[in-house]
Amino acid sequence: MPVSLENIAAPEPDGSPVGIWPVSVARNASGAFEIAGVPAAQIAAEFGTPLFVIDEADMRGRAAAWKRAMDQAFAGLAGADVFYAGKAFLSVGVARWMGEEGLGIDTCSETELETALRAGIPGRLLGLHGNGKSVREIGMALDAGVAHLVVDSLAELALVEKIAAGRGQKASIMLRVTTGVHAGGHEFIATAHEDQKFGLSIAAGTARRAIEETLASASLELAGLHSHIGSQILNLDAFSRAAEATLALRAAAMRELGCEIPEIDFGGGYAVRYTVLDDLAPAPVEYATALAAAVRANVEATGLPAPHVSIEPGRSIAAPACLTLYTVGTIKPVQLEDGTTRRYVSVDGGMSDNIRPALYGSDYTCALASRRPSDDAVRTRVVGKHCESGDIVVRDVALSAQLAPGDLLAVPATGAYGRSMASNYNMLPRPGVVAVRDGQARWLVRSETPADLLALDADA
Ligand SMILES: Cc1ncc(COP(=O)(O)O)c(C=O)c1O
Repeated sequence: MPVSLENIAAPEPDGSPVGIWPVSVARNASGAFEIAGVPAAQIAAEFGTPLFVIDEADMRGRAAAWKRAMDQAFAGLAGADVFYAGKAFLSVGVARWMGEEGLGIDTCSETELETALRAGIPGRLLGLHGNGKSVREIGMALDAGVAHLVVDSLAELALVEKIAAGRGQKASIMLRVTTGVHAGGHEFIATAHEDQKFGLSIAAGTARRAIEETLASASLELAGLHSHIGSQILNLDAFSRAAEATLALRAAAMRELGCEIPEIDFGGGYAVRYTVLDDLAPAPVEYATALAAAVRANVEATGLPAPHVSIEPGRSIAAPACLTLYTVGTIKPVQLEDGTTRRYVSVDGGMSDNIRPALYGSDYTCALASRRPSDDAVRTRVVGKHCESGDIVVRDVALSAQLAPGDLLAVPATGAYGRSMASNYNMLPRPGVVAVRDGQARWLVRSETPADLLALDADA
């Protein structure tokens, strides 16, 4: 589809809660971006670029909105918890914010778990996921008493049982089940259909077998069931169907095996807007209401006690509260086959700090941040500095014709799966993450330097 300049125009920050910029982003009197009262140029001068910049109040506000929505939706049932999915982006500072907003942390590795522990998150508000947990990770989870040790396969169930038995402990576990609901923004982030690596299949009977094996073990205790269907899901119905399938499994097991299954975790996957062309994502209260409706219907139909419910939003808390600042490098016009011209603008980062365009074909947008844009916008592709032609930051955007090397560009909605999926491709140091609040900026995670990278080289 041809893209007109009009529908690729870089959107301006408007402070709207459904906008795509962190809520404190605004242009100051001279036309340059400020974030939480700190000029973008000042941040870039002090911390360098590329750089992730998180609006602390915005990220906390999104976490608090989830907590409020779930507390309200499940007030008449058995209550709810929100675990922030640390895989979106985690640092000790971010884990502290989440803890202060009343959330727990869902982790996926030894270092994510250690990060949450250093932030003082208690075991009852910690989770550990993963389809390939190491013995060490399972041991750490048992030491920390994580509430959600989420078992992904029958093989892992046997491993957890063996480790718990060896320690003379009874491990409280959740079983991750696959409901067959295929949802998600991209095949690689849909996780509840059959032909993929995660979970215990309800359809194939593996989930039921895992429940039976857990109940039969003296070293395991069944805390609950877990379902995560994918990521960037706009469709409320997909969540309802997955919830119904998980609740039906719970009901059948409780009735037929005479057991308790006190908790259900419905995972993450709640969508955000990356560009103004994306559909509006449902608000936390809409997702929470859909999940609560499924639980209420199940409880009414079965007469069973309501489960305590938890969820694990990551992207919807982290992505919109952050932008990436890049410095413009080379600029060159490229003649296209249809006779038109596309301007290629390179920046000082790229696929090493945002792999999502290359991995999922994701679209982003951007705006000139260091000064007021002129009105003479031209069709532009913003690219990174890596040795791949797929190293695209923003596929199509209308940016000022006056753009020049040294200008700052800001890309919104980069807080999730940006820094956390960053690489050192081409030996680029990974960008740091700065938090801004009330006119102050501070490191959350400092930027790497070439010296950091060379320090790992045994022969350097
Ligand atoms: C088990 C689990 N929970 C939560 C999440 C977070 O998903 P999202 O960031 O889309 O909310 C993921 C993402 O992959 C996941 O695998």
